[in-house]
Amino acid sequence: MTDWLQSRGTQHGKEIAHRATYYGDNWPTPLRELDMPHLGRRVYVKDEAANVTGTFKDRLTATLVRSISEPTLVGLISYGNTALSLVNRIKTCPDFGQRVRVLIYVPSDLDSWTLGPTSLGTTVKGTEILSVLSRHDCVRLLPIPADGAFLDDAAIERAARTAFNDRSSPFVNITEGTDTPSYEIIGTEIIDQLGAVPDLILTPFGAGMLANETRDLVEDPDQRVLALSVGNRNSLARMLYGPFWLDVAALNQIGYGTTRHSSPDRLGRIRQPYRVHRVDEDQIHEALARCAKHSVCAEPSGAVPFTFESSQDLPVDFARDEPYQTVVLINTGNSIDYLRRSRGRSGEGFSPTVAS
Ligand SMILES: Cc1ncc(COP(=O)(O)O)c(C=O)c1O
Repeated sequence: MTDWLQSRGTQHGKEIAHRATYYGDNWPTPLRELDMPHLGRRVYVKDEAANVTGTFKDRLTATLVRSISEPTLVGLISYGNTALSLVNRIKTCPDFGQRVRVLIYVPSDLDSWTLGPTSLGTTVKGTEILSVLSRHDCVRLLPIPADGAFLDDAAIERAARTAFNDRSSPFVNITEGTDTPSYEIIGTEIIDQLGAVPDLILTPFGAGMLANETRDLVEDPDQRVLALSVGNRNSLARMLYGPFWLDVAALNQIGYGTTRHSSPDRLGRIRQPYRVHRVDEDQIHEALARCAKHSVCAEPSGAVPFTFESSQDLPVDFARDEPYQTVVLINTGNSIDYLRRSRGRSGEGFSPTVAS
């Protein structure tokens, strides 16, 4: 797989290829054609469930592993997937666990959650996620404060320094990514695998990092990238509930909300607000059923791009009478089935996967 990346010849491609070899990642992830003729003449799934821990968050944690060379404090807010990916890196990447100490803010009621069902019907309890996350001395967990205030860089840094009694090590908050793009490569792989820029890409939106970096790749993002989110904290796709990055009140009232990213962002890029469209609970159920029908393995958040069967059903900015020519649905993944499988096998969370 990495030969393909090497062959692209670009510096970025070579760097990614190096990481893919070193960390055991399985890139590029597959782009598989689907039979959805009313949506597009050619419709594909970009399947990020093929990542080691089942989600596209492995792209972010690979960037982090590579960027850290000295002892560093890392902080993040996670509903589970980034945290699970990071813990797997700690287990499997040589020396990474010695270099980092990680403070993770998780939902205060994660222990009462059941996540899923996935398109395979699997669920996982929040307590199982907590038990996988709690197994490393270099990882501390804190509950996200119930008052709903945003945890900014300074607040997370203070908490990390207190938790590890460390005033001097460098600190990085990866809640909104790092200062190197991690997800742009997903769109780059799509364009390379197709040999063209698709007419329409559908992507989930939580903090909006994937949507932002996908938009960065195309010339007319308002026409080509449809970002989808939920307006309810208890949604089946709760990983996508992002009130700090999106006008959720408008999302609920009129079916779309505009984004609220800081600009310039961590990548130094100017961020103009753009529209994100709402997906309701019954649509998420339909999307999961559609994933099952097309043999796509997705958790609810990953399944939301499968909400629409026909171009006429798309949100008004994107709706058309005729099917699109080329459509790509990004399945951001499914850590639930990976967690279930690997725990079933080893009884202790993700099993080591990395070679040299
Ligand atoms: C499976 C899945 N899909 C989508 C998202 C949203 O991604 P982003 O925060 O980049 O918008 C998340 C975030 O946690 C996720 O776990």
